[in-house]
Amino acid sequence: MSLIIKNLSVNLRERQILKEISLEVAPGTLHAIMGPNGGGKSTLSAALLGNSAYTVTDRVRGKNKPQILVDNKDITGLPTDMRAKLGLFLAFQSPISIPGVNVANLLKTAYQLSKEQRTKNHSSRHKEGLRARKDQKKLHNPALSVWEFNEMLVKEAKKLSIPQDFLRRSLNEAFSGGEKKKLEMLQAVILSPKYAVFDEIDTGLDVDALKIVATGIEQLKKKKTGVIVITHYQRILKYARPDFVHILVGGRIVASGNRNLAKEVEENGYRKWADNN
Ligand SMILES: Nc1ncnc2c1ncn2[C@@H]1O[C@H](COP(=O)(O)OP(=O)(O)OP(=O)(O)O)[C@@H](O)[C@H]1O
Ligand SMILES: [Mg+2]
Repeated sequence: MSLIIKNLSVNLRERQILKEISLEVAPGTLHAIMGPNGGGKSTLSAALLGNSAYTVTDRVRGKNKPQILVDNKDITGLPTDMRAKLGLFLAFQSPISIPGVNVANLLKTAYQLSKEQRTKNHSSRHKEGLRARKDQKKLHNPALSVWEFNEMLVKEAKKLSIPQDFLRRSLNEAFSGGEKKKLEMLQAVILSPKYAVFDEIDTGLDVDALKIVATGIEQLKKKKTGVIVITHYQRILKYARPDFVHILVGGRIVASGNRNLAKEVEENGYRKWADNN
């Protein structure tokens, strides 16, 4: 049970951006991906969620076939909404505003849909026997009442220092850069996905907000979410401690290691890998 990326090569129109990326993210672990501007980090997150602008190149067949697996389910060809329902979440580097879509309503709908899907997944794995029927009955009513959901939403928003009245506003409309990032984290902790990718969640955050967002990452880890944090800075990794650090340069993962790798990057930059790429 993991998020497994195998030999993922991705093109944007005619240009190859990602080259045979392989990565395995186990539940409850934190992977940090660092790399220079334009290296392909956001492309990786977009390709994971199935952005149709990016094409997974399928020229390599057989043993090196590109694949993305979520807990053994091959999601490589699935549309974004199915990937989200199967438990993938992406916090955007530049979250977009959606005027007229209220934060609380959006989250309530997304929460219900994701729980319904998980109930289905769970039931299909336990088709036979009395135990399965009991499980199904127990899980078949996962939706919280509006009142219970709102209570949870307000509690989680408070933990992230998001004022309650923000929840009634349109998604990201007239939110500051840092507020948008905190709102991305709120969505993640509410949806509690199996695997979450945060693309530069730390950019533009003040030091207090940075600690709060890092707490959100730790909270997700405790709930067994496998997390990928894309970042340029070691500072968030002081608060949310990564199990693995990967360096993505020129569309390839050129190095993987522990937290010390992030320190090395902070001190020496990427020249060492750029020269060899
Ligand atoms: N829509 C697009 N049109 C043209 N080129 C694009 C497009 N999107 C991405 N690219 C190119 O793909 C490459 C990889 O971009 P990507 O956004 O994945 O980099 P990144 O590692 O996330 O960089 P950063 O650290 O600056 O966010 C870059 O050279 C970028 O210019
Ligand atoms: Mg990027």
